[in-house]
Amino acid sequence: MIEAARGAGNLKVKAFAGAGKTSTLQLVAEHFGQRRGMYLASNREIAASAARRFPPHVGSRTMHSLAWASVSPMLRSRVSLQGEPPHELAARYGLDPLEVRTVTGKAVEIAPFEIGRMIADGRDRFCRSADAQPAAHHVVVDEKIDEAVAAQLRTYLLPYVGRLWEEGAAAHAGSSISPDVLLKLWAFSQPRIEADYILFDEAQDSDGVMLSVLGRQRHAQII
Ligand SMILES: Nc1ncnc2c1ncn2[C@@H]1O[C@H](COP(=O)(O)OP(=O)(O)O)[C@@H](O)[C@H]1O
Ligand SMILES: [Mg+2]
Repeated sequence: MIEAARGAGNLKVKAFAGAGKTSTLQLVAEHFGQRRGMYLASNREIAASAARRFPPHVGSRTMHSLAWASVSPMLRSRVSLQGEPPHELAARYGLDPLEVRTVTGKAVEIAPFEIGRMIADGRDRFCRSADAQPAAHHVVVDEKIDEAVAAQLRTYLLPYVGRLWEEGAAAHAGSSISPDVLLKLWAFSQPRIEADYILFDEAQDSDGVMLSVLGRQRHAQII
């Protein structure tokens, strides 16, 4: 792998847990000497444990922490604001309870709380995707709902998902945002990760938005 990494191209390593991927990334970083490296992991625990193992000049971060560090303090402060409860979101959008059919043909009610949650979840799923705009498939509908009804429900809720996203993304907005919204806004800002090479560990656990940011780091070697 070190031999392969010595070539300037990007490298993808696929192996079972415990096969030695992270250890080998460490050897690669040691081999690269003073080239500026960045180890990226999808969660904080993995990034923290790598920070202890990797040479000191190699940064060890999560994508969320990179995003956090490079967005405006104004945007950061909005993450810690109290979020709007789902039932209040549904009320603000004028959404009433819905009666839908389950796969077994039974009629059930979807309460405003649940509708609000589906909208906010849909917005977050869009934010974690590589997509440029919210789409119906970002809305998750309980699997006990009849599939044809679920498809209608996704189409019905999509404009509200878009509206919630727009409200959060608006430059003048002061409302609470989720960490996923912060990550998406950062991804849309065409961020540049300052490194000569990027070691992206546990890539299978990463989201589309992370892979899209990574894919745009043409200046860096990605392993
Ligand atoms: N070449 C090697 N020879 C012996 N043990 C190794 C070797 N590479 C890694 N290990 C050990 O195997 C275990 C798993 O390695 P790790 O790099 O964490 O795997 P992965 O990241 O693929 O899950 C660790 O305890 C590590 O010290
Ligand atoms: Mg590992």
